[in-house]
Amino acid sequence: MKSVGTIDEMRHVIAGVRAKGKSISFVPTMGALHEGHLTLIDEAKRVADSVVMSIFVNPLQFGPSEDFDRYPRTLDDDAKLASKRGVDFLFTPTREDMYPEHAPVVIVHPGSVGKEWEGAVRPRHFEGVLTVVAKLFHIIMPDVAVFGQKDLQQAAAVKAMVRDLNFPVGILVAPTVREDDGLAMSSRNRYLSPKDRELGLILSKALFAMRDAFGRGERRASALEATGWRMLERVAGLTPRYLAAVNADTFQRVNNVRHGDAAVGAVRVGETRLIDNIIF
Ligand code: PAF
Repeated sequence: MKSVGTIDEMRHVIAGVRAKGKSISFVPTMGALHEGHLTLIDEAKRVADSVVMSIFVNPLQFGPSEDFDRYPRTLDDDAKLASKRGVDFLFTPTREDMYPEHAPVVIVHPGSVGKEWEGAVRPRHFEGVLTVVAKLFHIIMPDVAVFGQKDLQQAAAVKAMVRDLNFPVGILVAPTVREDDGLAMSSRNRYLSPKDRELGLILSKALFAMRDAFGRGERRASALEATGWRMLERVAGLTPRYLAAVNADTFQRVNNVRHGDAAVGAVRVGETRLIDNIIF
């Protein structure tokens, strides 16, 4: 694996890969890699000749009271894991290189896909995500980029950006990887004490209960949501933020749930926010 620290060098490397006629897949991350990220690499390897992974903790997508400063930064371990799993190029640009003007003047707005749920709880979060993803796409010019289902609204916003702004990039969404007990893997799980982890797990259980009720034939979103809310609300120490049945592309709430729609949820446990989702 070759490590690449600047935008100029990355462009040079990409030109070399293209000159050899090779296809490129791309896995954007903020590091603190876990098995969820590593399965994105597997998917990226499956669809292209060369795999680029980026690690960049993007300040633009964190709100003023969020965890940008304490976000886990584990570059040495990440590089070992990425290399072992088969990444060809690891791109780790600096903040100064990515945002020489400190904050960009032009940003990408997610529109209605990013308005509700995470978008409502974290104002401007998706603007930060789409702006950095657009920049990374322009630098790396991949054929395919791979995102995790764990951040389903992010994946929907990226797909909408690619469609509406004609980016020549295919978007793949890989299934969420879970711990044995069902907790969705996340870089933020490492903040959780054992007690908080137990509480956080209830979000996944509530979503699974919604999926089970759908499996038994319930189609009313309100009834499915009530099933999940009942589980979240009876737990002291857990603050539910949202739980809803939505269309997985538009992220608008649905009244009648169909196969392919999603249940999305977020909770706060102590200082940590957890999100998760399932597809019905
Ligand atoms: O999902 C993430 O890790 C980030 O939101 C992304 C896509 C790398 C953009 O910073």
